[in-house]
Amino acid sequence: MNEVVKTILKRRSTRAYTPSQISEEELHVLLETARFAPSGMNRQPWHFTVVQNPETLHRINEACRQVLLGSGVKAMEERAKGNNFSICYQAPTLILVAVDEQVHTGRLDGAVALENMFLAAESMGLGSCWIHAVSMLFNGGANEELRKELHIPAGFVVIGSGAFGHKAAEAQAAPRKENTITVLK
Ligand SMILES: Cc1cc2nc3c(=O)[nH]c(=O)nc-3n(C[C@H](O)[C@H](O)[C@H](O)COP(=O)(O)O)c2cc1C
Repeated sequence: MNEVVKTILKRRSTRAYTPSQISEEELHVLLETARFAPSGMNRQPWHFTVVQNPETLHRINEACRQVLLGSGVKAMEERAKGNNFSICYQAPTLILVAVDEQVHTGRLDGAVALENMFLAAESMGLGSCWIHAVSMLFNGGANEELRKELHIPAGFVVIGSGAFGHKAAEAQAAPRKENTITVLK
């Protein structure tokens, strides 16, 4: 098995991070892998916002807490009530991916860019996790001030975000479903 395949199979969603920040070089590599992801008709309809400022991370966390508290999903509400609630599991870097709403492949393009970063993170021994609630922060024009501060361009929608940092623990692979493949020869 080659190194790329090994990395793909080894990547897990990391939900426990140490406080130590990723290096500038590691951040640069993550963003380059995002920028070089495939996109429909090579439109590259994305914008990436890197948040490493603890105060901004805190404000994103509190806004996400409100999203979860209003979700109507009991497990999410319980999680958000905790004193140590951290939407990104205390990861020191959060990268938001926003895409042009007018581009019909935009959400797919953004997801591919995120996955590239997750795989690159694993290849450098870093942990990562898709953080979904961040993409709900700006629904219906909410949190407009935060949106401006994060430099989300007008007409762009946040489709997802990724937590990145050093793993505090290795995660186990979740079981994979059987019977999801059809091969016609
Ligand atoms: C679109 C999407 C949204 C996700 N949102 C979250 C999330 O908000 N929080 C979280 O802890 N994991 C999230 N995940 C991670 C999944 O739970 C995880 O990929 C899945 O359980 C399989 O585990 P693995 O990534 O370790 O293989 C998300 C994954 C995807 C693809």
